[in-house]
Amino acid sequence: MHTTPGKNTLLALLALAGDVLAILDGSRYMWFAQPAQWPIFEEGMPIGNGRVAATIYGGGAEVLGINENSIWTGPFQDRTPLNASQNEPIVRSMLQEGHISEAYDLTMSQMIPTNNDPRAFSYFGNINLDFGHADDDMADYVRWLDTKEGTAGVEYTVDGVTFTREYTPSYPHGVLLARFTTSKPGALNLNVTMSRTDHIQSVVASAAKDNNTVTLVSSSGQSEDENPILWTGQARFVSGNASCTTSGANLLIKGATTVDMFFDVETSFRYPTQTAWEAEMRRKLNNVYKTGYKAAKQAAVADTKSLLGRVTLDLGTSPNALADLPTDQRIINARNSSSDVQLTVLVFNYGRHLLAASSRKTANSTSLPANLQGIWNNSTSAPWGGKYTININIEMNYWPAGPTNLIETQEPLFDLMAVANARGQTLAKSMYGCPGTVFHHNLDLWGDGAPTDNYTVSTMWPMGAAWLASHMMEHYRFTADKAFLRDIAYPFLVDVATFYQCYTFDYQGYRVTGPSLSPENSFYIPDNFTKAGELGYVDLAPAMDNQLMTDVFSSVLEAAEILKLDNSAVDAAREFLPLIQPPLIGSLGQILEWRLEYKEKAPGQKHLSPLWALMPGTQFSPLVNQTLGSAAEVLLDRRVSHGAGSTGWSRTWLINQYARLYRGDDAWDHLTEWFAVFTTPFNLYNTDGGAPYKFQIDGNFGFVSGVTEMLLQSHAGVVHLLPALPTALPTGSVKGLVARGNFVVDIAWDEGKLISAQITSRAGAELSLRYMNGSAISVNGAAYTDPIVTTAGKVYKIVPRG
Ligand SMILES: *[C@@H]1O[C@H](CO)[C@@H](O)[C@H](O)[C@H]1NC(C)=O
Ligand SMILES: *[C@@H]1O[C@H](CO)[C@@H](O)[C@H](O)[C@H]1NC(C)=O
Ligand SMILES: *[C@@H]1O[C@H](CO)[C@@H](O)[C@H](O)[C@H]1NC(C)=O
Ligand SMILES: *[C@@H]1O[C@H](CO)[C@@H](O)[C@H](O)[C@H]1NC(C)=O
Ligand SMILES: *[C@@H]1O[C@H](CO)[C@@H](O)[C@H](O)[C@H]1NC(C)=O
Ligand SMILES: *[C@@H]1O[C@H](CO)[C@@H](O)[C@H](O)[C@H]1NC(C)=O
Ligand SMILES: *[C@@H]1O[C@H](CO)[C@@H](O)[C@H](O)[C@H]1NC(C)=O
Ligand SMILES: *[C@@H]1O[C@H](CO)[C@@H](O)[C@H](O)[C@H]1NC(C)=O
Ligand SMILES: *[C@@H]1O[C@H](CO)[C@@H](O)[C@H](O)[C@H]1NC(C)=O
Ligand SMILES: *[C@@H]1O[C@H](CO)[C@@H](O)[C@H](O)[C@H]1NC(C)=O
Ligand SMILES: *[C@@H]1O[C@H](CO)[C@@H](O)[C@H](O)[C@H]1NC(C)=O
Ligand SMILES: *[C@@H]1O[C@H](CO)[C@@H](O)[C@H](O)[C@H]1NC(C)=O
Repeated sequence: MHTTPGKNTLLALLALAGDVLAILDGSRYMWFAQPAQWPIFEEGMPIGNGRVAATIYGGGAEVLGINENSIWTGPFQDRTPLNASQNEPIVRSMLQEGHISEAYDLTMSQMIPTNNDPRAFSYFGNINLDFGHADDDMADYVRWLDTKEGTAGVEYTVDGVTFTREYTPSYPHGVLLARFTTSKPGALNLNVTMSRTDHIQSVVASAAKDNNTVTLVSSSGQSEDENPILWTGQARFVSGNASCTTSGANLLIKGATTVDMFFDVETSFRYPTQTAWEAEMRRKLNNVYKTGYKAAKQAAVADTKSLLGRVTLDLGTSPNALADLPTDQRIINARNSSSDVQLTVLVFNYGRHLLAASSRKTANSTSLPANLQGIWNNSTSAPWGGKYTININIEMNYWPAGPTNLIETQEPLFDLMAVANARGQTLAKSMYGCPGTVFHHNLDLWGDGAPTDNYTVSTMWPMGAAWLASHMMEHYRFTADKAFLRDIAYPFLVDVATFYQCYTFDYQGYRVTGPSLSPENSFYIPDNFTKAGELGYVDLAPAMDNQLMTDVFSSVLEAAEILKLDNSAVDAAREFLPLIQPPLIGSLGQILEWRLEYKEKAPGQKHLSPLWALMPGTQFSPLVNQTLGSAAEVLLDRRVSHGAGSTGWSRTWLINQYARLYRGDDAWDHLTEWFAVFTTPFNLYNTDGGAPYKFQIDGNFGFVSGVTEMLLQSHAGVVHLLPALPTALPTGSVKGLVARGNFVVDIAWDEGKLISAQITSRAGAELSLRYMNGSAISVNGAAYTDPIVTTAGKVYKIVPRG
């Protein structure tokens, strides 16, 4: 044990993975030569089918940490603040008269809920699978995660006998699959039960012919009349002729050669009664049992590969065989150096795996999107509640969805937005006396968009629905799906626009927001205001609010034009757009964060809120408006020179922002910094601030998006090849990225220059092209000058010219 696995083990492992690679590909496999130390969550390996997920530790006594995306801490809570609407006009007068501090006090005492906490993400519990092997007796140990198939496994020997475990989440069957085998017939023994830290109603083991099971029933902990979330999870074992008995809540399997496990959990979130959710659970388990392990695994892997296999990234080979080392050793190296380029590819592949594993459309009912921990948590109370935080984090989760060809993973977000829209309409009326819909900076699984946390720099922010709405417009831009635009995106955009038309008020000739804030910065109150020198938080017309409203109203018009709609909502949007205050530029040439050039509390603030329009938005893109692009650059450089990037997600936002300014080397520097500080030392999770490790998945997704933005951009109306290629990546290729307009893009480059690109038009859209700084190219042999009207299904080959 604690030795690097020998070649035989690796070959056996590859045979197990059904692959014919010569070595364990360091761009594809995360692997370790020792088990994770349970319960150190940040050493486990995450898999999932978008609804049910597992964390694999791989010890001799295996623990599978299990999650289901609707297991949260409790039922819906109506947290509507009762005094908001009568205090809003008073607060607004105070803001206009320079009584910022008083406006803040009144906002926080009267306009936010007395109950600050929406529901938090929780966990199912553990499946405990004791193989009876002491960790010290295990030799030739390998534990691996395949980022291309979404599967994981463990292999080791004890006294010369090989034991293997393979874990496969199945989207087609809606369950988790596992197979345990041994090289010596009859040598496999298992002692199985389930556990949870609290609120267990029952754990039952049952041994019956063809039906050996362990079942856990549990609850979010409220009393029955408070309507807790309830769930039942069952693992069913198939073990040939092995003996199966029970002992209390434990199932004992003895003398087996192969044991298959099928697992499902269903909850009261999706089914009204225990009878109904258990019937659904049994239906799924019977179905997969009848299919059998082999066929079920084949279907599961085929499904996952059909998503993850769409993109192939190659950034060359890492020096000094670095990529052949176990992942934990590579991470130690990456703390000081980004020379292991295959690790960048592994983290890119891992991020796409995490997205597909935590965000898939759920049959039968409302899907739920990836939350702050994706879908993985090991406790009844996750950091920051494991919520859907929508002032950057959940949006960042979906940045890679379109560009890396996983657009359907975004659909669960739209399910949640539909649930939240209904609640948001009630909230808009009661808090602000307005039609339309409003969310503040968090949602939970019930779509609770009321203000949360009573926190100075984030709570009072009525802009969450505006940011989320941009994901619907982007969904259309990547898919060209007009039915989606007409039936889902456009109506939502109109609901959000309707809210702002009513909610905003007249100030210096513009329609502005307030009380609101610039997440999550604050400022020193200026001399001509009351309480000069104190910190200010809420204000009117923060720059980001204007950028978000501009995006919403422009999107209404863009959608209406595509759908050929002309109605009163379109007229209203046309009238409102010029009433939004344009961006302001300050004394340093920087984009201003607020309506006046207040002195910032944190010039290095990790949130890049006033730069929303640079990335993910488009208004500050240098190709859209050079003046605004330059002003955005001044502010971004200023943020960085004052220490921005203090959390993992913020660091990956910087990668994306610099790529949008075509500064590839700066983007690469921030990627290097991310490796230096922000990944966990084993499972490459993004963290808030390095050690002590607090997992937050957004940075894993921001990383994937950041790498993509270096190679391909398409937000500014052109398909832009190699817009921000860093010097560190002179050679490489990428296949299968997607550009807006629904073009599939393959690019190969060498010596820092394009060799060739292939663009497949999937929707017949017009194709505008740009290569690097505008260098000359030809398309299908002819010099490129003007946009090309493409034919769906046709391929366009681009090479540099001259
Ligand atoms: C969850 O993970 C944390 C961090 O590694 C660990 O300290 C804790 O004991 C784990 N909790 C459970 C219930 O497994
Ligand atoms: C709401 O306002 C009423 C009177 O206007 C007051 O009695 C009540 O305490 C206020 N509620 C809260 C939560 O402060
Ligand atoms: C404070 O001064 C700024 C200009 O420096 C001005 O725009 C603003 O209206 C003043 N505010 C008040 C409340 O007087
Ligand atoms: C929020 O916190 C502030 C400061 O502690 C307090 O004055 C205010 O009443 C709180 N608001 C609510 C709604 O509890
Ligand atoms: C099975 O595991 C349980 C702990 O879950 C333990 O108490 C029990 O002794 C084990 N039984 C056997 C036969 O190993
Ligand atoms: C298998 O046993 C479990 C636990 O007793 C039970 O819930 C389930 O209905 C059984 N399934 C079949 C197919 O008999
Ligand atoms: C199970 O036992 C039966 C009868 O003893 C035998 O025919 C069969 O081959 C065995 N099956 C396995 C999978 O070992
Ligand atoms: C990485 O750099 C740090 C600080 O510069 C140093 O303490 C550490 O030993 C280096 N680690 C490796 C693996 O080179
Ligand atoms: C869930 O969907 C599946 C497949 O569409 C269907 O067979 C099953 O009956 C549905 N279950 C419920 C409870 O609606
Ligand atoms: C789950 O929550 C616990 C306690 O808040 C934390 O230690 C652990 O890291 C969390 N796990 C994830 C996946 O965030
Ligand atoms: C760029 O933005 C500035 C500031 O809002 C504006 O004055 C200017 O007209 C814009 N330029 C173009 C080309 O749109
Ligand atoms: C683009 O950059 C290259 C190399 O720096 C330079 O030679 C070329 O003139 C630039 N092209 C344009 C259109 O600016």
